[in-house]
Amino acid sequence: MKVQVHQRFESRLPEDDTHPYRSGAWRPQQTEYDAWELEVEGEIPRDLAGCYLRNTENPLLPPIQRYHPFDGDGMLHSISFQDGDAVYRNRFIPTDGFLAEREAGEALFSGAAESPKLARQQCSLGARPNMKDASSTDVVVHAGKALTSYYLCGDLYQCDPFTLEPGGKADFGGHFPREGVSAHTKVDEVSDELLFFNYGTEAPYMHYGVLDPNGALAHYTDIPLPGPRLPHDLAFTESYAIVNDCPLFWDAEALAGGKYATRYHPELPTRFGILPRRGTAEDLRWFEAAPTYVLHWVNAFEDGDEVVLDGFFQGNPSPKPLPDATLEQVMFRFLDLHSMESRLHRWRFDLRTGETREECLSDRIQEFGMINGRYGGRPHRYAYMALPAEGWFGFEGVIKRDFARGSEEVFRLPENVFASETVMAPRLGSTAEDDGYLVTFTMDVGNDRSECWILDAANPVDGPLARIALPERISSGVHAFWHAGQPG
Ligand SMILES: [Fe+2]
Repeated sequence: MKVQVHQRFESRLPEDDTHPYRSGAWRPQQTEYDAWELEVEGEIPRDLAGCYLRNTENPLLPPIQRYHPFDGDGMLHSISFQDGDAVYRNRFIPTDGFLAEREAGEALFSGAAESPKLARQQCSLGARPNMKDASSTDVVVHAGKALTSYYLCGDLYQCDPFTLEPGGKADFGGHFPREGVSAHTKVDEVSDELLFFNYGTEAPYMHYGVLDPNGALAHYTDIPLPGPRLPHDLAFTESYAIVNDCPLFWDAEALAGGKYATRYHPELPTRFGILPRRGTAEDLRWFEAAPTYVLHWVNAFEDGDEVVLDGFFQGNPSPKPLPDATLEQVMFRFLDLHSMESRLHRWRFDLRTGETREECLSDRIQEFGMINGRYGGRPHRYAYMALPAEGWFGFEGVIKRDFARGSEEVFRLPENVFASETVMAPRLGSTAEDDGYLVTFTMDVGNDRSECWILDAANPVDGPLARIALPERISSGVHAFWHAGQPG
């Protein structure tokens, strides 16, 4: 492997750090690399072309009081494939907050598990004050640019998906919303549009918008909600966008006192708002369903008069801490998909009658579903889910779901090896939906090593076709994206 260090950053974290999300599979990196002529076990398919992008959290400084993994500075990893060869790079995302804290040499902003009053510097994110926009949650590629985003609504930081060369903040042709943009912007690979939303604590509490294929703002509209809400994801079909109002949101009384504590309201329904993709608040139709909280959708599509939505229903959105739980177990119980009882679920919204039908599709705990991106908004047969570890936020394998057969196949990683969010990369010239590859980064804690694994998307249980060594073990992180294409 040929490796060049691009930049090395000083870390002020303790060397013997025991924080559960700054050690093990979550140990942060502090070095940026370019690597090529990578060691490969097996063979990189020659018909795999494009890049796998992975966003991860990598803190360099101790928090003001309590670290939460979503506070860590965003670091983007890119591995690009062409003609059976691969090139890897990783870079910190040069957000305003990252640069300001490096300059100061200390944490300036309050974290997800801290009071906003602790912040040493004021700032405003769309959904919560005084937190750093770490741009560490999600990544997509639109109009040739990688866009990283943060779940509490901030800027979209741009970079080249192959070189990771920074490209400043997206400005939507001078119309970037003052409310910011949430993670989980959605790219429609057929129309080349990008759909987005934001949410906050001021009326109308949500907005929805569309970018044209060139990245200019084509549509932006209010989505009035009954109060501040915490939607995390957006879904779309060929004709509609689907927003959500789940009954887990900031406790109103605490919020009035400047405290950000979530509260589940099982007496309220989950509400789904369906509107034409260029529609306004007047076009919104609300559908009610059983109370839950949903982090992520798999996909949505139209079926006659119905809109079908697949996602992950939480049976226990607000798990109670065990009586002997440590402070860390209490703080991080919302990161354990087992305790939240996250399961694959299908909702059907009848546009004629206004009725909702819903069903649980699998008993298995799962989340982070990915499909072949060409089927986004259209009927899909397959999806690839993460198999969550129990008790903490990590993935022990990949589940392939066949919706037509109602079957699941599970590929488990070896003990102490964890996967990233795994993407589906269609093979060059493919026509079948599952004709392609699954791509993921592994965190092998026992051997202190990370690799990129390529699996056959039709038969992931057969194990990796290629294992490609990375220069250093990466930190676990949250979301990833597959971008087909070549450097422009
Ligand atoms: Fe997410």
